[in-house]
Amino acid sequence: MQTRCATAVSCPNIAFIKYWGNRDDGLRLPANGSISMNLAGLETVTSVTFDPQRREDEFIFDGVPQAGPALARVTAQLDRLRGRAGSSVKARIESRNNFPLGAGIASSASGFAALTAAGAAALGLNLSERELTILARRESGSASRSIPAGFVEWYAANADEDSYAETIAPPDYWALADVIAILDSRPKKTGSAEGNRLARTSPLQAARVADAPRRLEICRRAVRERDFPALAEIVEEDTRRMHAVMRTSTPALNYFAPATEELMRAIPAWRTEGLPVAYTIDAGPNVHCLCPEDSAAEVERRLREIPAVERVLTARPGGGARVIEG
Ligand code: DP6
Repeated sequence: MQTRCATAVSCPNIAFIKYWGNRDDGLRLPANGSISMNLAGLETVTSVTFDPQRREDEFIFDGVPQAGPALARVTAQLDRLRGRAGSSVKARIESRNNFPLGAGIASSASGFAALTAAGAAALGLNLSERELTILARRESGSASRSIPAGFVEWYAANADEDSYAETIAPPDYWALADVIAILDSRPKKTGSAEGNRLARTSPLQAARVADAPRRLEICRRAVRERDFPALAEIVEEDTRRMHAVMRTSTPALNYFAPATEELMRAIPAWRTEGLPVAYTIDAGPNVHCLCPEDSAAEVERRLREIPAVERVLTARPGGGARVIEG
């Protein structure tokens, strides 16, 4: 057998309604459904080369060979794909991000979406988009949402085959922007995989999960009707609920920097003044400022005036994972 290679590109996504906690950790079946927007311009590019001569998988990330848990997760994901293809051939995986790792821009989402798409293509697996979202989900929940394009919903379910993600509106449906205030680009101390396992230790998680269908419905409708005021209220509420769970887990998790809280006060005040913008925050200190595209320049300007903001990145609604070679 010859070497077989494929390359895929994928973008991270920002959740409007968050995934936090699993009903089944082993299968990564989420406690609640979630909705997100892919972030154009932020990219992971991953090449997978299966080589019969190889004795181990090798994973190079941003030019640096990886070992330990990072390599183990990549191998676990390729094992799922190899299982499907009836193959045991090892691979070299080379991956690059054009955005900072591990600081609340979901790099595991774009990473495992690109890896799943490239690995499946290199093995000659002919999988539907839905099957790819299910496979991506198994190693990183939010990765399932980076496979389809645009605005995406990932469904909670009790069975592996029912927890998939699909586009609810294409990227050009709504001219939104995510203006990301980077407060700290260092990797976080507790990764989301561990954080997700702690969610059930919070007494607030059950209430957050029970109310999720209501938040999902409001968010779906806001996207469908391009209703920014409704989106603003529901994404901020959902963010506060998730961080309340994190902060009341055992051990407690607090991903905020002091300036995160400063922005959580400033942004709703800007909205009251008439600037349409809303915050949402993942498992990191950075603040994603959602706004209509024509307000992005003013949001960027205001963020740059805040000394704790290291950098501002702006992303528009992005496409899905795609194989660019192989
Ligand atoms: C806070 O998908 O990164 O970003 O499944 O362990 O990879 P793993 O966790 P991950 O968790 C994402 C959590 C979040 C919210 C979200 O994106 O929905």
